[in-house]
Amino acid sequence: MTDPNASSSTDPASDLAALEQGLTADIAGAADEAAIEAIRVAALGKKGRVSELLKTLGAMSPEERKEKGPLINGLRDRVQGALAARKEELAAAALTARLEAERVDVTLPLREAPQSRGRLHPISQVVDELTAIFADMGFAVAEGPDIETDFYNFTALNFPEGHPAREMHDTFFLPEGADGKRKLLRTHTSPVQIRTMQNVKPPIRVICPGRTYRTDSDQTHTPMFHQVEGLVIDRVANMGHLKWVLEEFCKAFFEVDSVKMRFRPSFFPFTEPSAEVDIQCSRKGGEIRFGEGDDWLEILGCGMVHPNVLRNCGIDPDEYQGFAWGMGIDRIAMLKYGMPDLRPFFEADVRWLEHYGFRPLDLPSLAGGLSS
Ligand code: DAH
Repeated sequence: MTDPNASSSTDPASDLAALEQGLTADIAGAADEAAIEAIRVAALGKKGRVSELLKTLGAMSPEERKEKGPLINGLRDRVQGALAARKEELAAAALTARLEAERVDVTLPLREAPQSRGRLHPISQVVDELTAIFADMGFAVAEGPDIETDFYNFTALNFPEGHPAREMHDTFFLPEGADGKRKLLRTHTSPVQIRTMQNVKPPIRVICPGRTYRTDSDQTHTPMFHQVEGLVIDRVANMGHLKWVLEEFCKAFFEVDSVKMRFRPSFFPFTEPSAEVDIQCSRKGGEIRFGEGDDWLEILGCGMVHPNVLRNCGIDPDEYQGFAWGMGIDRIAMLKYGMPDLRPFFEADVRWLEHYGFRPLDLPSLAGGLSS
């Protein structure tokens, strides 16, 4: 070949054309914005091929520049334009794909937010309710540990060593500690009475709701259950007061104007006299119902605090007297909310909780309604 213009390497105009063709093809084939950016850098970046061409203009003679300038600048403008157009095209395609993939069905029902889906366990609800009722009568809430010593659970409560009443409690004992003694899971909330009397000067008016444990398990007993203890110590406190407090509690708790209650003489080492209290119910069809029928359900034990117990806590029985009770929380919960079986209380079945649970922000109060 002798014609210098025939070779692309020596004909700048056809070089430019080839470069433009190559770039145009690359741009058309770019699959995403990253590819577009790579092409832009390779062409128009600091060391890009088009940028290098633009730099050669400075060294040219005015005539040559007049001829080449428009060609190179034109190339740059077209490449810039093509890049921008392809970029826009790709962005539009990406948006279309996203809209396709993320289509929302606006007719679907709203999913409830976690704070409105969560439910309080009926036991928590009932503890809140009874706390509100007793608080209204001037009772404070006292607490004690689930793991107790023999002293607090039995001895201080006037259970003599080796007394058969200890055996009635089906106690869970822990392994022997360093002191050779075995702690236990409290079998009732009564030890909180002792802890309170040791720490608070009379007059005392407290309730102590909490977990209790016995090695008992059948349809109406679970190894862990709940009690609420009540304790009143004052210069004047008698069985009449006790009866009034319990009756007022039952009326407020069951949200009725009157309840039928039955006080039966009973025995507890820590009270004298002692009684057990039943409330009227129906047990038709195996379901316990409150406010009808002529059956009775035992809900609590109570009595006048034994002088020995007062003495064990440093309180002079000639100066002070008091009454106390221990009530089964699970039972009154079953009765109030018509839950026929105790076992699902502790099975953590979300479907049960959704049915029987309570909305967390509906706090029970005497003014605003206990369970509405
Ligand atoms: N602690 C007793 C129990 O679990 C219940 C009880 C009875 C508690 C009489 C008392 C009471 O405070 O005075 O069986």
